[in-house]
Amino acid sequence: MIENLVVGAGVAGCVIANRLAQKNKQVLIVEKRNKIGGQAHDSYNKKNVLVHDYGPHIFHTDSEEVFKLLSEYTDWILYNHEVLGFIDNNFVPIPFNINSIAKLFPSEKGNKYIKNLISYFNYGEKITIWDLKNSSNEILKELAEYIYNKVFYNYTLKQWDCSPEQLDREVTSKVPVNISKDNRYFFDKYQMIPAEGYTTMFRKMIEMDNISLLLNTDFKDILSIKNGDFKLYETIRVKNIFYTAPIDYFFDFEFGKLPYRSLKFKHETYSRKYYQQNAVINYPNNYDFTRVTEFKHITKQKTPFTTIAKEYPQKCNLEDGDIPYYPIPKRDNREIYYKYSAKVKRMKNFYPVGRLAQYEYLNMTQAIENALKTVAKL
Ligand code: FDA
Repeated sequence: MIENLVVGAGVAGCVIANRLAQKNKQVLIVEKRNKIGGQAHDSYNKKNVLVHDYGPHIFHTDSEEVFKLLSEYTDWILYNHEVLGFIDNNFVPIPFNINSIAKLFPSEKGNKYIKNLISYFNYGEKITIWDLKNSSNEILKELAEYIYNKVFYNYTLKQWDCSPEQLDREVTSKVPVNISKDNRYFFDKYQMIPAEGYTTMFRKMIEMDNISLLLNTDFKDILSIKNGDFKLYETIRVKNIFYTAPIDYFFDFEFGKLPYRSLKFKHETYSRKYYQQNAVINYPNNYDFTRVTEFKHITKQKTPFTTIAKEYPQKCNLEDGDIPYYPIPKRDNREIYYKYSAKVKRMKNFYPVGRLAQYEYLNMTQAIENALKTVAKL
């Protein structure tokens, strides 16, 4: 018998396997790809530049527990993420803040906006674009229109292929408007990058005698479910399944497909020290790509070459091998998801965890916290 099968060797899968193995449990991980780390996977390219294969990943958490756990398997590089947006021919801080206003408007107009912002809200507050749009102050409404059109509207069209109003409001609210001069993107207590990269950190996490890893294997090729029992290769009983792959796929899309957005990355390598001034620059209103990432700013790697990634949002067709990047947060989709989760509640020994199994945009620390909670519940 296999006591614990973990489907997926991404962030959640590796943490679950590690925690179970620490409790002296036997674990088999089955992973569809030929590599571990899931979306956080990183690797060295031909010019020896460390790149994040599935988009920039910055680790940030307020959780002492998560930070301590990962620190057992990595040293850290301190890194404060700051993002710029190319707006009206200027590079300005995103999330939009007082510095962005000062850069974009002539001083008299800018000062009027700043004065009204500070008197209507509190200095240091993070508000949503919806708070600003709904304010009763006419000057702030005018500013809200500008920010909405220049920062959110076109970016959302490119990213999600619909307007901000057609998505759950939380999506747009994830990027606040900051009533301060603090240019940081994240405000968590811990903000850092694994010194030798994410893949190395996760490899160390699952390099344990009681963890086996099967790569290049879709779990459906080896797992069968009959009368509620899980079996590998039709004969070996599996007790618990910790499932981090798409939830609709597990149930053969019984209640319909859960839609995703996908991305394509175009990597370019240059023989120069740096390409741009920041790790990430957003282009809401220009070009087909949404943003350009330069990895060396994040990894602090010292090499004569630098690699950038231009990020192009795409439709996601799983049958064509597209990678599901973002669950699409809309009511209809959530209703489909609830049908799957109701079915899961009636099952025994089946634990869906992570962004694909929970059909939710989770950052890494949230995926890890969910993984820890699941193991703790056993
Ligand atoms: P993840 O997708 O990583 O792992 C699932 C694993 O299951 C994959 O390895 C997959 O191959 C495998 N699998 C799928 N189907 C299977 C099957 N049928 N059989 C076997 N295996 C299967 N977060 C953050 O904290 N900071 C950041 O800066 C970013 N940046 C970022 C950028 C972009 C572009 C995206 C899309 C996301 C981020 N994130 C992030 C979020 C981060 O990627 C996310 O939190 C983790 O990937 C979640 O880990 P999971 O293990 O849940 O999924």
